[in-house]
Amino acid sequence: MLIIRRRGWEIPESQATPEHVFFSRRTLIGGAASLAVASALPASALSQRIADLPDPTADLYPAKRNEKYVLDGTLTPEKNSTNYNNFYEYGTDKYVAGRAQALRTRPWTVKFDGMVEKEKTVAIDDLIRAMPLEERLYRHRCVEAWSMAVPWSGFAMAKLVEYAKPLAGAKYVRMETFLDPAMAPEQNKPFFPWPYIEGLTMAEATNELAFMVTGLYGKPVHKQNGAPLRVVLPWKYGFKSIKSIVRFEFTDKRPKGTWEVLQAREYGFWANVNPEVHHPRWSQASEEDIGTRERRPTVIFNGYGPYVADLYKGLEGEKLFV
Ligand code: MTE
Repeated sequence: MLIIRRRGWEIPESQATPEHVFFSRRTLIGGAASLAVASALPASALSQRIADLPDPTADLYPAKRNEKYVLDGTLTPEKNSTNYNNFYEYGTDKYVAGRAQALRTRPWTVKFDGMVEKEKTVAIDDLIRAMPLEERLYRHRCVEAWSMAVPWSGFAMAKLVEYAKPLAGAKYVRMETFLDPAMAPEQNKPFFPWPYIEGLTMAEATNELAFMVTGLYGKPVHKQNGAPLRVVLPWKYGFKSIKSIVRFEFTDKRPKGTWEVLQAREYGFWANVNPEVHHPRWSQASEEDIGTRERRPTVIFNGYGPYVADLYKGLEGEKLFV
């Protein structure tokens, strides 16, 4: 029997009004003038001045919302989702927002290499302006059993793949975060195999849900949430959603993500959300909403099964939910 119910991630539109920010022409002109003054400064002071300039893509936000992706819970307030983060480059606790302000997001380049027609490196602002930006409301489920629902802005990862022009033999995309211990002192510590790495199959990367994030709450994405470019994969545990990406490498070999390298028994390549497959050290049956602090039952594929379940047909022998 087919039972039609409201899907797991649907939220009333009324609960999801994005915050609008407005950068006036005056602010941008002022920023450019201060950069000119800054050019007489030492390199460290100059890079600080560049970091203090308004985001050069701020005029693109808020992006028009794609109404197809709706939720059924409360949208997480900005103060929660931007002050409770996982960003190991800035510490292993959740309160990295202050420390993450040391992340300099301009100049920033993104490299496309490996099995591509032609290797290329693009400035982040050129990449963002070349893409059709939209806003999507997505749920996010961390492997640690907490969750949130936020308005991301960005563009379909399929567009990024199209832009990269991978060769027909490419089977996976391997993604890499920046490596700069001067900007992220935690990268001086040997515990982690820096830089942070994640990977997807080409079918996953081009699935309509896979989304490149450049904005959050109607403005450029916060540093602690992965500025200036991260991915979000709402049907997978959050550790797959790699932040502050500098490189996309197309390959025919399955990449090993940072967490799989660290602890393969607990974290694998697929990492799809499933309430019935528990983490070796805790249950995945429910999750705590970081906005309301309420617990709710976890749903397979985080409620996005209708979009992604087909990707895993014939792969039942794999550890799809670790
Ligand atoms: N990307 C990088 N580069 N470094 C990280 O530590 N943490 C991951 C993921 N991407 C992480 C990362 C984990 S475990 C989660 S749950 C999400 O980012 C958290 O995203 P948020 O802070 O925006 O909620």
